[in-house]
Amino acid sequence: MRNASLESGFIKIDATADPSKYIRKMDRKASGEASKNIKRVSIDLLQLKPGDRVLDIGCGTGGEVRKMAAIVGLRGRAVGVDFSETMLDEAKKRSRAEELRPFFFQSDATRLPFREDRFDACRTEGMLYLIEDPVAAVKEMVRVVKPGGRSVCIEPDFGTYRIEGSEPELTKRMIEARCAHFKNSKVARLLPLLFGKVGLTDIKISTVELAQNQLDAEQMSMLRDNFVDAAALRQLATRDEGERWLADLNEAATKGIYRMTFHLFVVFGRKPAREG
Ligand SMILES: C[S@@+](CC[C@H](N)C(=O)[O-])C[C@H]1O[C@@H](n2cnc3c(N)ncnc32)[C@H](O)[C@@H]1O
Repeated sequence: MRNASLESGFIKIDATADPSKYIRKMDRKASGEASKNIKRVSIDLLQLKPGDRVLDIGCGTGGEVRKMAAIVGLRGRAVGVDFSETMLDEAKKRSRAEELRPFFFQSDATRLPFREDRFDACRTEGMLYLIEDPVAAVKEMVRVVKPGGRSVCIEPDFGTYRIEGSEPELTKRMIEARCAHFKNSKVARLLPLLFGKVGLTDIKISTVELAQNQLDAEQMSMLRDNFVDAAALRQLATRDEGERWLADLNEAATKGIYRMTFHLFVVFGRKPAREG
């Protein structure tokens, strides 16, 4: 089995054989137009202004923290936390040239090292689906945001995968394997309800479809890692079936009829202002 694991390396990047692989994965994802748009929308939703204090939980290499630091300016504070030292080292390295120095701390999303009501706004992106207890992380987010403060979560829902191919039953098993790879691969659809349960108001939900219509060598290799290896490891499909599935998708791509989609949820909520 080629480097396969039963759980995503993103929950323990520093303990993987090649931590920098995850930086490359993040950079690749962030370079797509759809991803850039969603990141922009999520920052707009936070309605930041100069002087605000803002937090990004599971900030990765800190791209959004740097953007938010530019908005809140020298009177404000933009902070990123992440579990992984590899990610934080890269975030700090990429922030060295920044005039408006953002702050980075190592922390678990479910135990933030901040007192309550500390931030005007908070975001998290692509982290809740990875972790054991996303409810605890959302509660922490709400705890550290001020009354009246804004929170935004952006999460993929891998239960929404659609992959067109000539063997739908095999595709279904591949998707099942992909979903099983993460602790909470369908948490995104629960976020609106969860935001309500933890007391957030003004909840706004939007979904964005991400689509892949072409397959280059790198995308093919990601499909092999993400679906075929995962399915073989969980005995949901044999390796021969996996290779047949890839060949089928590759043929569809050659004919220009390959299509894979899944949805991202962008969920906004506001902590109620204190009465009186
Ligand atoms: C898929 S990446 C997303 C990074 C960034 N938010 C983005 O969208 O580019 C997930 C990030 O969450 C971090 N992470 C995973 N588990 C965490 C936890 N329990 N607490 C804080 N961060 C965590 C990982 O180290 C990684 O940087």
